[in-house]
Amino acid sequence: MFRRTEPTDCTITWEGRTLPARTGESLAAALLAAGITAFRETPVSGSPRGPLCLMGACFDCLVEVEGAQNMQACLVPVSPGLRVAMQRGARDFVEDAA
Ligand code: FES
Repeated sequence: MFRRTEPTDCTITWEGRTLPARTGESLAAALLAAGITAFRETPVSGSPRGPLCLMGACFDCLVEVEGAQNMQACLVPVSPGLRVAMQRGARDFVEDAA
């Protein structure tokens, strides 16, 4: 679907798979360049969703980054070794300890 025009210089991990990436590019760009188009599953039906706007407006690119849920892949810059997973359903509820 997408073809890289610049060389990669690092790797990231998607769902346990090692993918080539370029430091500083958006995580969404790296995943799309690797052929990943479904970034999350909707909370109601579990339908796959992927990035739409690529500028932080639509929230269809939500992923888990280093265990943190609800991260917008189009706004997260790639750093070497980043661990990323699909966001499945709604994020977990974390009760405030206070
Ligand atoms: S692609 Fe729309 S918010 Fe990321």
